[in-house]
Amino acid sequence: MTDKYSRRKFLAVAGSAAAMDVMAKTVSAEQGRKTKNIKIIGVSCSPRKGKTTAAALKICLDAAGGVDKNISTELIELAGLNISVFDPGDVKATQGDFTGLIPVLSEPSVAALIVGTPVYFGSMTSLCKAFLDHCMVFRQKSFALSGKVAGIVAVGGARNGGQELAIQSVQAALLCQEMIVVGDGRPTGHFGATLFNSGNDDISSDEFGIATAKNLGRRVAEVALQIAQAKL
Ligand SMILES: Cc1cc2nc3c(=O)[nH]c(=O)nc-3n(C[C@H](O)[C@H](O)[C@H](O)COP(=O)(O)O)c2cc1C
Repeated sequence: MTDKYSRRKFLAVAGSAAAMDVMAKTVSAEQGRKTKNIKIIGVSCSPRKGKTTAAALKICLDAAGGVDKNISTELIELAGLNISVFDPGDVKATQGDFTGLIPVLSEPSVAALIVGTPVYFGSMTSLCKAFLDHCMVFRQKSFALSGKVAGIVAVGGARNGGQELAIQSVQAALLCQEMIVVGDGRPTGHFGATLFNSGNDDISSDEFGIATAKNLGRRVAEVALQIAQAKL
């Protein structure tokens, strides 16, 4: 071994490398502990207040809130609000109650949105479409929803009533906002929460659907948290 690679030098280098490794691990553990307070908002796009879509979103939000104590959640129901067809020719005049939602949804502490829609003829409700079209203002405001996480919940009257089709159409609109769209996490692990109303406006017997709602809420929260920590 030449002097350059002498045992003493090797041990010194190895020792300081080990010390640096310990320091790096300590710093990254501290970074791991730092967590910003983040908010996750559920938006129910059912014209019926407090019914199955709202119930499914509550399950998602409860699961999301359970991921970390720094996560707060809020459910906004569009039912009863004045959200009419979006008119790009006269945005201000047709904005109605959507005006009040603009600062709420674009608030930087809002790390994720979970959009819930009933399935209407294999797609989202017209209220949901009107809401998503009004979200055009966020694109125009330098993509104010960009980087926020999005998950979708669809509730139908049948087990296979078009939940995935409805989810896909909502996802398409949110991708256009540069949102980070995720599905329900493992073990169900597909496109979002897919529930069905077994009659009497009840989702409580839909074990699989409830599992997808919990897994979506958890997945949305985990990804939102990772992004928030990366920004610290
Ligand atoms: C106009 C209309 C169309 C519907 N189309 C479908 C459908 O295509 N597939 C389905 O599974 N359920 C369909 N349903 C049933 C609703 O999706 C279901 O009742 C849902 O639970 C309603 O959500 P809500 O309780 O939040 O209002 C339809 C209901 C209405 C009123």
